[in-house]
Amino acid sequence: MNKKLRKAVIAGNWKMNKTPAEAKELMDGIKPLVKDADCDVVVCVPYVDLCTVLEAAKGTKIGVGAENCHWENSGAFTGEVSAPMLTSMGVQYVIIGHSERRTYFGETDATVNKRIRAALNAGLNVILCVGESLEQREQGITAELVAMQTKIALGGVTKDELKKVIIAYEPIWAIGTGKTATAEQANEVCAAIRSVIEGLYGKDAADAFTVQYGGSMNAKNAAELLAQPDVDGGLIGGASLKPADFAEIVKAASK
Ligand code: 13P
Repeated sequence: MNKKLRKAVIAGNWKMNKTPAEAKELMDGIKPLVKDADCDVVVCVPYVDLCTVLEAAKGTKIGVGAENCHWENSGAFTGEVSAPMLTSMGVQYVIIGHSERRTYFGETDATVNKRIRAALNAGLNVILCVGESLEQREQGITAELVAMQTKIALGGVTKDELKKVIIAYEPIWAIGTGKTATAEQANEVCAAIRSVIEGLYGKDAADAFTVQYGGSMNAKNAAELLAQPDVDGGLIGGASLKPADFAEIVKAASK
């Protein structure tokens, strides 16, 4: 596999952090530090921060994303936000199927699939999250589980649409715990995901497909993780809220 065929993408996932005023301050901190990035840089932010962050990202190469979207375009779905609402604002990315949505909000592989299809229909780039719990890892079912999550999530997604999809492998036990997967563990599962993509869409699609690692990636461990042949980027939680740390990760991906 030739890593040069693929785009390195470093995406911040701000989760439920930052008011609009704080979001502006964070963007002001990030912008000068990532201006020479030689990889794609994205920030996925709370809905209420989108206007501010889109405005702040103007004139930069920083992509802006939301953290979820609904599968219908509009309707009686109190509290939800649709994909066309996001694109109408100029949002380019959306995270779908984050483990926090699956764990705390009842998201299933089937709803993840519906949300992805709606996002792609609206023209959004999708960051699909998959990953196993500690119990599942200990049971030895990680590869099977992420394969199943990937296959169900991508049901009905065409090869052309796949060009707008990235998968983030996020082991649940590594998220927000300070416990990172080893570079070998991360690479092994990212490679397994790539072979699922190859099975579904062919070798050319798999070779060009971006697979990120996420889970306590930080300024210190990013270079080693990103040097792995099948790790093409990172989805960053905590460290994306600290401009210097986020920039360090972007720098590691730009090499
Ligand atoms: P942390 O980087 O805080 O572990 O979060 C990872 C994550 O969930 C990104 O989506």
